[in-house]
Amino acid sequence: MTNPAPTDHPVHPLIEKRWSPRAFTSASVTAEQMRSLFEAARWAASSRNEQPWSFLVALREDEAQFARFFGCLMPGNQPWAGSVSALALSVAEARGADGSPNKYAVHDTALAVANLIVQATSMDLYTHQMGGFDGTKARAEFGIPETHDPVAMIAIGHVADADTLPEDLRERERQPRVRRPLAEFVYGSAWGLASDLVS
Ligand SMILES: Cc1cc2nc3c(=O)[nH]c(=O)nc-3n(C[C@H](O)[C@H](O)[C@H](O)COP(=O)(O)O)c2cc1C
Repeated sequence: MTNPAPTDHPVHPLIEKRWSPRAFTSASVTAEQMRSLFEAARWAASSRNEQPWSFLVALREDEAQFARFFGCLMPGNQPWAGSVSALALSVAEARGADGSPNKYAVHDTALAVANLIVQATSMDLYTHQMGGFDGTKARAEFGIPETHDPVAMIAIGHVADADTLPEDLRERERQPRVRRPLAEFVYGSAWGLASDLVS
Protein backbone atom coordinates (compact mmCIF):
# COMPACT_ATOMS: atom_id res chain seq x y z
CA MET A 1 0.00 0.00 0.00
CA THR A 2 1.20 3.51 -0.77
CA ASN A 3 -0.22 6.83 0.34
CA PRO A 4 1.75 9.59 -1.39
CA ALA A 5 1.48 13.18 -0.19
CA PRO A 6 -0.85 15.23 -2.44
CA THR A 7 1.62 18.10 -2.71
CA ASP A 8 0.80 21.56 -4.11
CA HIS A 9 4.33 22.01 -5.49
CA PRO A 10 6.94 19.53 -6.75
CA VAL A 11 9.04 17.80 -4.06
CA HIS A 12 11.55 14.97 -4.06
CA PRO A 13 9.84 11.58 -4.62
CA LEU A 14 11.10 10.32 -1.22
CA ILE A 15 9.32 13.18 0.56
CA GLU A 16 6.17 12.46 -1.40
CA LYS A 17 6.42 8.75 -0.59
CA ARG A 18 7.13 9.00 3.17
CA TRP A 19 4.08 8.19 5.21
CA SER A 20 3.36 6.97 8.73
CA PRO A 21 1.33 3.77 8.30
CA ARG A 22 0.01 1.58 11.09
CA ALA A 23 -0.29 -1.58 9.01
CA PHE A 24 3.00 -3.44 8.81
CA THR A 25 3.82 -6.93 7.52
CA SER A 26 5.72 -9.37 9.70
CA ALA A 27 8.75 -9.27 7.35
CA SER A 28 12.11 -8.61 8.96
CA VAL A 29 14.61 -5.85 8.46
CA THR A 30 18.22 -6.94 8.34
CA ALA A 31 21.04 -5.75 10.56
CA GLU A 32 22.67 -4.32 7.44
CA GLN A 33 19.55 -2.28 6.67
CA MET A 34 19.45 -1.02 10.24
CA ARG A 35 23.10 0.03 10.02
CA SER A 36 22.29 2.08 6.90
CA LEU A 37 19.47 3.82 8.75
CA PHE A 38 21.72 4.76 11.67
CA GLU A 39 24.53 5.74 9.30
CA ALA A 40 22.10 8.20 7.68
CA ALA A 41 21.19 9.52 11.13
CA ARG A 42 24.89 9.86 11.94
CA TRP A 43 25.45 12.29 9.09
CA ALA A 44 22.81 14.80 10.14
CA ALA A 45 23.84 18.38 10.79
CA SER A 46 23.95 19.50 14.41
CA SER A 47 24.71 22.66 16.34
CA ARG A 48 28.48 22.83 16.98
CA ASN A 49 28.59 19.27 15.62
CA GLU A 50 27.60 18.10 19.11
CA GLN A 51 25.62 15.14 17.70
CA PRO A 52 23.38 15.00 20.76
CA TRP A 53 21.38 12.00 19.53
CA SER A 54 21.47 8.40 20.71
CA PHE A 55 19.19 5.50 19.84
CA LEU A 56 18.06 2.39 21.63
CA VAL A 57 16.83 -0.27 19.23
CA ALA A 58 15.44 -3.80 19.06
CA LEU A 59 14.41 -6.03 16.16
CA ARG A 60 11.13 -7.91 16.54
CA GLU A 61 12.93 -11.27 16.21
CA ASP A 62 14.70 -10.49 19.45
CA GLU A 63 11.48 -11.08 21.33
CA ALA A 64 12.66 -10.30 24.85
CA GLN A 65 14.29 -7.02 23.84
CA PHE A 66 11.40 -6.02 21.60
CA ALA A 67 8.95 -6.62 24.44
CA ARG A 68 10.82 -4.11 26.61
CA PHE A 69 10.29 -1.38 23.98
CA PHE A 70 6.73 -2.47 23.28
CA GLY A 71 5.96 -2.32 26.99
CA CYS A 72 6.88 1.38 27.06
CA LEU A 73 4.29 2.26 24.38
CA MET A 74 1.00 3.86 25.36
CA PRO A 75 -2.04 1.59 24.94
CA GLY A 76 -3.19 3.56 21.86
CA ASN A 77 -0.07 2.52 19.94
CA GLN A 78 0.15 -1.10 21.04
CA PRO A 79 -2.67 -2.50 18.85
CA TRP A 80 -0.68 -1.78 15.69
CA ALA A 81 2.97 -1.52 16.75
CA GLY A 82 3.43 -5.18 17.67
CA SER A 83 4.02 -6.29 14.08
CA VAL A 84 6.67 -3.75 13.11
CA SER A 85 10.13 -5.06 12.25
CA ALA A 86 11.99 -2.82 14.69
CA LEU A 87 11.36 -0.30 17.41
CA ALA A 88 13.85 2.47 18.13
CA LEU A 89 13.86 5.18 20.77
CA SER A 90 15.58 8.48 20.04
CA VAL A 91 17.31 10.15 22.98
CA ALA A 92 18.74 13.69 23.17
CA GLU A 93 21.65 14.79 25.33
CA ALA A 94 20.37 17.95 26.96
CA ARG A 95 23.81 19.44 27.75
CA GLY A 96 26.64 20.35 25.41
CA ALA A 97 30.30 19.39 25.71
CA ASP A 98 30.99 22.45 27.90
CA GLY A 99 28.19 21.50 30.31
CA SER A 100 25.86 24.33 29.30
CA PRO A 101 22.31 23.56 28.16
CA ASN A 102 22.15 22.62 24.48
CA LYS A 103 18.95 24.25 23.31
CA TYR A 104 19.29 22.49 19.97
CA ALA A 105 19.45 18.99 21.42
CA VAL A 106 15.93 17.96 20.46
CA HIS A 107 16.12 19.87 17.18
CA ASP A 108 19.33 18.07 16.19
CA THR A 109 18.02 14.69 17.33
CA ALA A 110 14.98 15.25 15.12
CA LEU A 111 17.31 16.07 12.20
CA ALA A 112 19.03 12.72 12.74
CA VAL A 113 15.64 10.99 12.81
CA ALA A 114 14.60 12.81 9.63
CA ASN A 115 17.75 11.50 7.92
CA LEU A 116 16.97 7.99 9.18
CA ILE A 117 13.44 8.26 7.82
CA VAL A 118 14.52 9.49 4.38
CA GLN A 119 17.04 6.64 4.21
CA ALA A 120 14.37 4.14 5.27
CA THR A 121 11.98 5.45 2.63
CA SER A 122 14.65 5.07 -0.04
CA MET A 123 14.95 1.39 1.00
CA ASP A 124 11.19 0.86 0.76
CA LEU A 125 10.88 0.75 4.53
CA TYR A 126 8.24 2.79 6.32
CA THR A 127 8.45 4.46 9.71
CA HIS A 128 5.96 5.69 12.26
CA GLN A 129 7.15 8.01 15.00
CA MET A 130 5.41 7.93 18.36
CA GLY A 131 5.29 10.40 21.20
CA GLY A 132 2.84 8.00 22.80
CA PHE A 133 5.23 6.18 25.08
CA ASP A 134 6.08 6.38 28.77
CA GLY A 135 9.40 8.25 28.98
CA THR A 136 9.76 7.65 32.71
CA LYS A 137 9.31 3.94 32.20
CA ALA A 138 11.77 3.95 29.28
CA ARG A 139 14.34 5.82 31.36
CA ALA A 140 14.11 3.20 34.10
CA GLU A 141 13.89 0.22 31.73
CA PHE A 142 16.99 1.15 29.75
CA GLY A 143 18.99 3.07 32.35
CA ILE A 144 18.88 6.36 30.42
CA PRO A 145 20.86 8.88 32.50
CA GLU A 146 19.32 12.14 33.77
CA THR A 147 21.60 14.06 31.38
CA HIS A 148 19.63 12.60 28.45
CA ASP A 149 15.96 12.78 27.48
CA PRO A 150 13.89 10.18 25.59
CA VAL A 151 12.34 11.96 22.59
CA ALA A 152 10.36 9.63 20.31
CA MET A 153 9.75 5.97 19.59
CA ILE A 154 10.15 5.04 15.93
CA ALA A 155 8.48 2.01 14.39
CA ILE A 156 10.30 0.70 11.31
CA GLY A 157 9.08 -1.97 8.91
CA HIS A 158 7.38 -3.05 5.72
CA VAL A 159 4.01 -1.51 4.96
CA ALA A 160 0.99 -3.82 4.73
CA ASP A 161 -2.52 -3.40 3.38
CA ALA A 162 -4.90 -1.46 5.64
CA ASP A 163 -7.22 -4.49 5.64
CA THR A 164 -4.81 -6.21 8.03
CA LEU A 165 -5.67 -3.68 10.76
CA PRO A 166 -8.54 -3.77 13.26
CA GLU A 167 -11.63 -1.93 11.99
CA ASP A 168 -11.13 1.39 13.84
CA LEU A 169 -7.51 1.71 12.72
CA ARG A 170 -8.40 0.72 9.16
CA GLU A 171 -10.54 3.85 8.86
CA ARG A 172 -7.73 6.07 10.14
CA GLU A 173 -5.27 4.46 7.73
CA ARG A 174 -7.47 5.50 4.81
CA GLN A 175 -8.00 9.11 5.89
CA PRO A 176 -6.82 11.70 3.35
CA ARG A 177 -3.44 13.22 4.20
CA VAL A 178 -3.87 16.91 5.00
CA ARG A 179 -1.51 19.82 5.65
CA ARG A 180 -1.82 23.55 6.27
CA PRO A 181 -1.23 25.59 3.09
CA LEU A 182 2.14 27.36 2.70
CA ALA A 183 0.52 30.79 3.13
CA GLU A 184 -0.44 29.84 6.69
CA PHE A 185 3.12 29.34 7.87
CA VAL A 186 5.53 31.08 5.47
CA TYR A 187 5.55 34.78 6.39
CA GLY A 188 7.23 37.76 4.80
CA SER A 189 7.02 41.35 6.07
CA ALA A 190 5.54 40.51 9.48
CA TRP A 191 4.40 37.66 11.62
CA GLY A 192 1.19 36.20 10.25
CA LEU A 193 1.47 37.92 6.83
CA ALA A 194 2.03 35.39 4.09
CA SER A 195 5.20 35.89 2.08
CA ASP A 196 4.69 37.00 -1.52
CA LEU A 197 6.57 33.82 -2.43
CA VAL A 198 3.63 31.67 -1.41
CA SER A 199 0.51 33.86 -1.62
C1 LIG B 1 7.00 13.45 17.44
C2 LIG B 1 5.86 12.65 16.84
C3 LIG B 1 5.04 11.94 17.68
C4 LIG B 1 4.01 11.15 17.13
N1 LIG B 1 3.27 10.35 17.98
C5 LIG B 1 2.40 9.47 17.45
C6 LIG B 1 1.77 8.49 18.28
O1 LIG B 1 2.02 8.39 19.49
N2 LIG B 1 0.89 7.63 17.69
C7 LIG B 1 0.62 7.67 16.35
O2 LIG B 1 -0.17 6.84 15.88
N3 LIG B 1 1.24 8.56 15.54
C8 LIG B 1 2.12 9.45 16.05
N4 LIG B 1 2.79 10.32 15.22
C9 LIG B 1 2.53 10.31 13.77
C10 LIG B 1 1.74 11.54 13.33
O3 LIG B 1 0.40 11.41 13.74
C11 LIG B 1 1.88 11.69 11.81
O4 LIG B 1 3.21 11.94 11.49
C12 LIG B 1 0.99 12.81 11.29
O5 LIG B 1 -0.38 12.50 11.44
C13 LIG B 1 1.25 13.10 9.81
O6 LIG B 1 1.06 11.91 9.06
P1 LIG B 1 2.19 11.37 8.08
O7 LIG B 1 3.44 11.15 8.93
O8 LIG B 1 1.66 10.08 7.55
O9 LIG B 1 2.44 12.40 7.04
C14 LIG B 1 3.79 11.13 15.73
C15 LIG B 1 4.64 11.87 14.90
C16 LIG B 1 5.67 12.61 15.44
C17 LIG B 1 6.59 13.37 14.50
